[in-house]
Amino acid sequence: MRAHGAWLCAAALAAAGACGGDHASTTQPVIPPPPPAPAADTTPLRVLAARHSLLIGAAVDRGFRYTGSDSATFRALLAKQFSVLTPENDMKWDHIHPARNTYRFEPADSIVAFAEANGMKVRGHNLAWHSQLPAWLTSGTWTPAEATALLDDHIATVVGHYRGRVMEWDVVNEALNDDGTKRSSFWLANVGPGYIERAFRDARAADSAAGLFYNDYNIEGMNAKSDSLYAMMQDFKARGVPVTGVGFESHFQLGGVPSSLAANIARFAGLGLKVHITELDVRMLLPATSTQLDAQASDYTTVVSACMQTTACDLVTIWGVSDRESWIPGTFPGWGAATLFDAQYQSKPAYAALVKLLQ
Ligand code: XIL
Repeated sequence: MRAHGAWLCAAALAAAGACGGDHASTTQPVIPPPPPAPAADTTPLRVLAARHSLLIGAAVDRGFRYTGSDSATFRALLAKQFSVLTPENDMKWDHIHPARNTYRFEPADSIVAFAEANGMKVRGHNLAWHSQLPAWLTSGTWTPAEATALLDDHIATVVGHYRGRVMEWDVVNEALNDDGTKRSSFWLANVGPGYIERAFRDARAADSAAGLFYNDYNIEGMNAKSDSLYAMMQDFKARGVPVTGVGFESHFQLGGVPSSLAANIARFAGLGLKVHITELDVRMLLPATSTQLDAQASDYTTVVSACMQTTACDLVTIWGVSDRESWIPGTFPGWGAATLFDAQYQSKPAYAALVKLLQ
């Protein structure tokens, strides 16, 4: 108490002549009024992130198709806060290649145009995946040569269409099981295990400069799946398969960020690869409580600061602009509130935590 009183005196009151010298211990300390709370930093996330050479992205889908004032609000927030966009669905096979000889580029084109108009980069998502394939493809009967030609042609056409406009592609998506074996898929069954390498070579042939990524979930921590991917990437680097980096999707449950995230980023970086956080969200059981939202803020901070520890990690994308658009409630019933903004576009504690981290 004595030390505290003396400190108060030295720090705040001496200039006002209020200190009692040797009598300080007998005078009541005069408590100065608290300083005004610092004004919340209104600098957008993308500006703060840029100071750390970090791109901050969002996946967009139905929000991009809102009309009227909803559309204006959504797009203004998107352009203000984010420096990268990922079409959440519009570049997937079933959307962009709805019939064997038909490509439908317009929806993704409009996202790319919006990004360009607002100084944002684009992540292309994705070129070879087990899911969201069109029925004309999966219900057809193909020889290995035919299936390989379909993969080659699709990648040449789609990557060629966006050459120079898409910064990087998720070339192969979710090709591994949790035990590290190759996941059963149309591509594995019809092209064979070489489809992964082939997709990377096809993408490089179509765009000599775009970043080429392998993207998956449950590879964020050290485990059998990420070990298997590490071995595959080591082999690809050794044999000159054109891979730029790995995407850690990062769809976490509250409290579920693996403690080995930073070390795992570092080991992939050690192979000369980039590591991008490509689909970050942190879901919680609804209704969200303020305790949960604070815990979520801490999880977001953990992920972004793990990324910032390694220069190879220079992009974090959130899978959805706000809780209104997020895929979580539709896919994980009872769960939600996974993004940085609530369904009314108000920023959540996770947003404030990232502002603080990046300040
Ligand atoms: C999800 C979209 O968010 C949903 O709108 C769609 O119905 C299903 O796909 N991993 C991926 C993404 O790589 O493409 C998935 O996106 C989420 C999981």
